[in-house]
Amino acid sequence: MRLLDLFRTATFRLALAYVLLFAASVIFLLGFIYWRTAGFMTRQVDETIAAEVQGLSEQYRRRGLLGLRQVVIERAAASSGSSLILLTAPDGRSLGGNLARWPANAIVDEGGWIGFTFTRGGEQGLARGRAIPLQGGLYRLLVARDISDLALIEGTLRNTLLYALGLTALFGVIGGGLIARTVLGRLNQINQTSEEIMQGDLSRRIPIMGSGDELDELAKNLNAMLGQIEGLMTGMREVADNIAHDLRTPLNRLRNRLEGAMLARDTPDDTKLALENAIEEADGLIATFNSLLLIAEAESGAHRNTMEEVDLRSIARDVVDLYEPVAEERGIALTLSAPEAVRVRGNPSLVARAAANLVDNALKYTPTGGKVGVQIDPGYLRNDGPSIIVRDSGPGIPAPDRARVLDRFVRLERSRNTPGSGLGLSLVAAVARMHGAALELADNQPGLAARLVFPKALPIPQAAQ
Ligand SMILES: Nc1ncnc2c1ncn2[C@@H]1O[C@H](COP(=O)(O)OP(=O)(O)OP(=O)(O)O)[C@@H](O)[C@H]1O
Ligand SMILES: [Mg+2]
Repeated sequence: MRLLDLFRTATFRLALAYVLLFAASVIFLLGFIYWRTAGFMTRQVDETIAAEVQGLSEQYRRRGLLGLRQVVIERAAASSGSSLILLTAPDGRSLGGNLARWPANAIVDEGGWIGFTFTRGGEQGLARGRAIPLQGGLYRLLVARDISDLALIEGTLRNTLLYALGLTALFGVIGGGLIARTVLGRLNQINQTSEEIMQGDLSRRIPIMGSGDELDELAKNLNAMLGQIEGLMTGMREVADNIAHDLRTPLNRLRNRLEGAMLARDTPDDTKLALENAIEEADGLIATFNSLLLIAEAESGAHRNTMEEVDLRSIARDVVDLYEPVAEERGIALTLSAPEAVRVRGNPSLVARAAANLVDNALKYTPTGGKVGVQIDPGYLRNDGPSIIVRDSGPGIPAPDRARVLDRFVRLERSRNTPGSGLGLSLVAAVARMHGAALELADNQPGLAARLVFPKALPIPQAAQ
């Protein structure tokens, strides 16, 4: 079982591939060397013998057995060390040549070549040659060459091949082991970390070696991804906690009101009033849920495909019209300054909701007798994107709280007596993010200046409409 596991590892297969590749190259290389040396020499020997046989056959045809014998004796006398020749009589007796007797241990191959060992001067030798039967096989002629040196070379090559293959296997195993230790070892590390993370430890990270290679790059990217996931998870958990915490209070209140109305033996009018209050409370809850949904939608980018060209001026007009009665009721002067049409890419209903939330806040937190101004700025005079600016003369938001109020359900302590759920600015911020816009809160001295700045995507309008 464990052996099977070993075969299955990438380490083993890589090492095996390594060894096989090495072995193939070694065999190819030595094969080539053999073909160029020993193979070449063998072919030359064969050619020489063939030529000699032809020459002797010629002599035999022309001069008969006696003439051939003459030539054999001459050749044997003149021969250098490696040329072997022998002519035998029907009884096996030598009629001439430099071999004592016909070789007893000759092996004949398919091509008619014979190989044999011989002794000369007390030394054993290896030879290769051809046997030619004469006069119906009664007389025999042997023409051969001493190939002892050739056999030596072949043996050396064979040994070299064996050693090289052994070394190859050794290097392959060592190389494979090293690769396993470095590359695959690190892949294993990544695997292990992933497993630990899957088991619930989201804080785990893959170690980075600092080598700057692809694996380091991979580890860095995976770690960055894990960081992002962890951030999202934490954010989600916080949102869920917030929602659970902040919705429990109004739900409890609603429940207690209904219970009170049920238990009290009041007049029908009192009961009606209590129910009206409960309905109001429920409406508030529904509004909170709707805001939360809208924020979630804006943040998930669900409306990204519904972007169209929207005119900030007409949106500002609608919002100011909508809030005019509220401003009048609260005794606040609401003004609009939008001299020209300013177009941006966006979702009209979400941009309108964001603008309305800013105006709503300004009117809500500015005391009677104050001023609220809405301005549409094309932005190109300041080389900036188009923006909606809502200024008021109220208490403003202290600088340290300006980031915090964008979070869900965050309300400043002093606004405790004003109704609201603390989601208005969160929605504005979410809408801004979705549009690639920025929400800037600044001091209006006195009051708050809230500015929603869109990116400079659209070309400058040619003429005011
Ligand atoms: N124009 C403003 N002037 C002074 N304080 C403000 C202004 N706008 C917002 N704030 C402060 O920021 C807090 C958060 O504002 P946000 O609009 O998110 O919630 P809200 O107005 O309290 O409730 P909601 O908008 O959900 O009804 C407010 O409670 C208030 O304390
Ligand atoms: Mg608000």
